[in-house]
Amino acid sequence: MSRNGSIGVGLLGLGVVGSQVARVLLEKSERIAQQVGRQVTLRRILVRDRSKARDPLVPRSLLTVKASEVLEDPAVGVVVEVMGGEQPALDYLRRALSSGRHAVTANKEVMAKHGPELIALAEEAGVHLTYEASVGGGIPIIGALRNDLLANEVTSLHAIINGTTNYILTKMAQEGLAFETALGQAQALGYAEADPANDVEGLDAAFKLAILASLAFHTQVRGHEVYREGIARLTARDFQYARELGYTIKLLAIASRTDDALLLRVHPSMVPLGHLLAKVDGVFNAIEIQGDLVGQVVFHGQGAGALPTSSAVAGDILEVARSIASGRRPVRSGILNSRLRILPVEEMVTQYYARLTVTDRAGVLAQIARTLGDLNISIASVIQKNADPTTQTAEIVIMTHPAQEASVQQAVRQARALDVVREVGSLIRVEHWS
Ligand SMILES: NC(=O)c1ccc[n+]([C@@H]2O[C@H](COP(=O)([O-])OP(=O)(O)OC[C@H]3O[C@@H](n4cnc5c(N)ncnc54)[C@H](OP(=O)(O)O)[C@@H]3O)[C@@H](O)[C@H]2O)c1
Repeated sequence: MSRNGSIGVGLLGLGVVGSQVARVLLEKSERIAQQVGRQVTLRRILVRDRSKARDPLVPRSLLTVKASEVLEDPAVGVVVEVMGGEQPALDYLRRALSSGRHAVTANKEVMAKHGPELIALAEEAGVHLTYEASVGGGIPIIGALRNDLLANEVTSLHAIINGTTNYILTKMAQEGLAFETALGQAQALGYAEADPANDVEGLDAAFKLAILASLAFHTQVRGHEVYREGIARLTARDFQYARELGYTIKLLAIASRTDDALLLRVHPSMVPLGHLLAKVDGVFNAIEIQGDLVGQVVFHGQGAGALPTSSAVAGDILEVARSIASGRRPVRSGILNSRLRILPVEEMVTQYYARLTVTDRAGVLAQIARTLGDLNISIASVIQKNADPTTQTAEIVIMTHPAQEASVQQAVRQARALDVVREVGSLIRVEHWS
């Protein structure tokens, strides 16, 4: 790459995101050249299968199945990884950075597991590593945390960052669908994969929360440090009762800070109906941040899809290209080497909703109340729902006052052991904030 010549881009991957990124670079090349002050040229594209049908706008001569033809091409100064998966994407990013090439990635798994290592590698090599598309698709949240909010002490972050589960939960809330039915609809529309485990078990959201929390709290968080629970156990009745109590249910990714520790969790949460995040429906994402200077700020938009994601990837490419063109060195990441303690989820204090099926006879409630009371859990309300004369059972819904997770888990174990309790159907954390 000559001092004033064109800036060469090598793409790793030409799938949903890669094809649209290639399209942006090719279709908007004139405008990009004006914005950057240098030509930005797509040089080479790595794919798995060269014979696949592709967007006709992309010259086939650029395609290769050999990674080295992208990673070692002297004309490629910026490597853009849009392949997905942990390997070989991680190795390719390492190779790109250690050979002095700038890198852009959309890969949440790699950044959540290996972000600190790759950031250190980029800083050592004096090159850029940007990853805006790894969280929230087209929502410019990484840039906001890296730059605009950097002066803040962030106290908490509440986010809906998985569009697939938000679509499923919206369908369950609005149409009373069972989980399996809503999942089937999401799969038919292409919002959920054939194997939906990463989304419905909260792994995808946990990866994204780790990336956001590292930036928001200037520390190193990895995906496996996030406590997570999925959405598969939720029932249509939980949504109905939640609404009667003034809530909806969302898969929230939450990071909150105490003096020297972080609590990181992804699980179904009851959110008050009046809250902004309760109104984020379908495949949309939203991230709410509380900072000491900015107060509350909310980012909302499309968290996936070819166009929104290409907005983020192409934005990163242009940021890097402008920096190269003006001879600027990359700025520091803002993530410090210090490690905040990660609080065990058992230490968390919040309110709880529990749905139990119990024997329909006098004195049952008193037994349950005693079990909770012995563990210092105070009941805010109890509602008796459907009684079933054939099975002689009744359903009760309990809302607690704030209680410690460890005590609540202990109470669930003890309640399950009571003769009168047939089932503890659901236990959902109730979140009240700002
Ligand atoms: N899709 C979204 O809405 C979205 C949103 C945000 C972030 N992302 C992230 O963006 C990345 C790409 O996602 P995507 O949806 O575009 O994936 P995709 O449609 O599956 O495309 C993957 C591309 O990478 C190529 N590839 C995969 N493994 C390869 C290997 N071992 N060697 C060579 N080429 C390989 C594939 O080649 P072939 O074409 O030959 O199969 C394909 O072109 C992922 O990290 C994803 O998490 C996606």
